[in-house]
Amino acid sequence: MAGAGISTAAGIPDFRSPGCGLYSNLQKYKLPDPQAIFEIGFFRQNPQPFFTLAKELYPGSFKPTLCHYFIRLLNEKGLLLRHYTQNIDTLERVAGLPAEKIVEAHGTFHTSHCLECKHEYTVDWMKERIFSDSVPTCEKCDGVVKPDIVFFGEDLPTRFFVCAEKDFPKCDLLIILGSSLTVQPFASLIDRVPKVCPRLLINRERAGHRDWVMAALQMGRGLDFDSRDNFRDVAWLGSCDEGCQMLADKLGWGDELRKLVVDEHVRISKQQNETSKRQTEYPSEKKRAESEHQ
Ligand code: OAD
Repeated sequence: MAGAGISTAAGIPDFRSPGCGLYSNLQKYKLPDPQAIFEIGFFRQNPQPFFTLAKELYPGSFKPTLCHYFIRLLNEKGLLLRHYTQNIDTLERVAGLPAEKIVEAHGTFHTSHCLECKHEYTVDWMKERIFSDSVPTCEKCDGVVKPDIVFFGEDLPTRFFVCAEKDFPKCDLLIILGSSLTVQPFASLIDRVPKVCPRLLINRERAGHRDWVMAALQMGRGLDFDSRDNFRDVAWLGSCDEGCQMLADKLGWGDELRKLVVDEHVRISKQQNETSKRQTEYPSEKKRAESEHQ
């Protein structure tokens, strides 16, 4: 299970880290509260702040982090049942994790839909509108068109529920990476693994732990790092990249992981250089290159 903390090393801010997180830096949008920018009710009344932010944060030339490549290695070693992510930056795909192994719990920018007539639009169509500073409206009915990322007040994709039902009872190790585990229903996936399944949190801070009320009531919800009965929950506090490198070292894949990161970053830089060179030489290719990049 992963959250925004796996992508901060790539230069993408998380949401809740004090000072540098996105929610501490939205004053200019004059929102009733920071989360309103991702609330469907607010968006229906005033979609402009979301689209201004989307332009500012539009995925550019970000490279996956070491942690993303660790997840890819888990898969290549035959150990990954599924990767559940709250992130919409698509860096898991860029890192080479196959689509069937990923559950994008909070949706994706790949498609968009009209809020009224549900007509579908492509990523290129949406990107063009975001970059021309206009609120995208439907060509069929004039309704507002929204990328298929999940806003507060919207349902998660069906795939999330279908896969979670099958996967979590089978899980024999749950790794939780870079999430404050504050947003439901994603956060409570941690309670759906078997009662003896070890749960490893790699994060800068403790997250998802049982509060004292739950503990006093002997309710087994959340992670339990401190009680004397704990035999399975571990918090490793530090950066996701360091934690994953340490785990890879212990598994004997440390050098393989280091090499994978270097090789892939060189390949992606080369690809990005070629794309921008082509765009300079043949500006008409810009559009095609953008869709390839997506
Ligand atoms: P948060 O910003 O809530 O939490 C990120 C967590 O990662 C925090 O606990 C940080 O301390 C930690 N962190 C940041 N950088 C790290 C690093 N390099 N190494 C280790 N830990 C690091 O982000 P999420 O938990 O992903 O939803 O937030 C969940 C959801 O809240 C998002 O998907 C989004 C947001 O509102 C919607 O918009 C629907």
